[in-house]
Amino acid sequence: MDDHVGLEDLTRRSLHELLKVGHELDLEDDRGTEALTAQLRQVRDEFVQLRMHYQFGIDEVQTKVNILRQEFEQVHDYSPIEHVRTRLKSVESLVEKAVRTGGEMTIPAIRERIHDIAGIRITCSFVSDAYWIADMLSRQPDLTVLTVKDYIDRPKPNGYRSLHLIVEVPVFLSEHTEKVPVELQIRTIAMDFWASVEHKLSYKYRKQLPAHLSAELEDAARAADALDQRMERMREEIRPMSDRSSRGPGTIASR
Ligand code: GTP
Ligand code: MG
Repeated sequence: MDDHVGLEDLTRRSLHELLKVGHELDLEDDRGTEALTAQLRQVRDEFVQLRMHYQFGIDEVQTKVNILRQEFEQVHDYSPIEHVRTRLKSVESLVEKAVRTGGEMTIPAIRERIHDIAGIRITCSFVSDAYWIADMLSRQPDLTVLTVKDYIDRPKPNGYRSLHLIVEVPVFLSEHTEKVPVELQIRTIAMDFWASVEHKLSYKYRKQLPAHLSAELEDAARAADALDQRMERMREEIRPMSDRSSRGPGTIASR
């Protein structure tokens, strides 16, 4: 989850970066100011273009998820996918993360170190469906799985559970093909409920949760896990016999 950074802090730090650009130019000189303005405009244009490419990446992966969903609904009269939400990192939070993570403030360097500019969150009913969706997508030949973080198998210390994949998808542009990384978060409704409450509390307390709330959250995470396991057992009752052999958790290959 992204650290909360006040706007004032962000402005101060970004300004620092911008001033480094300005430092190399003579601002007393009109040409210096013009050059700085041109440079800032170029940076802005580059950011706009970068975000556009990542939006295309989201569109590509979202289409894949929608196809799986519709095909499954058609064949089985039910969908393992409950909700799909997408988000493109705002310029403000992109700049903030680029500054916070250190390193060069160039577009290639930022692309290299920030992998959650494009994000898709898929919510499903059952844990086995989360693995199934990850497996289906991972096996598509044009998607490359860059990383897998299985916080379902190994939850975070605070109780957070979810299956995270960074996949790279080709986006075909007029002049070239861009490979765009997209962060996929796949989780059950129970995991999503927990994460959403945890996020609100962490935000409110700026990540300094009082001990009783952390303990309460850990306990709620265990309850959510227990609920997922009960649902999974009941699922066996719902699932038609013909599906049982072909469905179920798969293993995901990572590069
Ligand atoms: P970020 O730089 O914060 O994106 O984290 P990371 O690169 O270490 O990746 P990680 O897989 O840990 O987290 C990626 C995303 O998962 C976050 O941006 C959140 O959306 C979500 N996430 C991770 N941990 C938590 C958590 O403890 N609580 C909640 N609510 N969401 C989390
Ligand atoms: Mg993130």
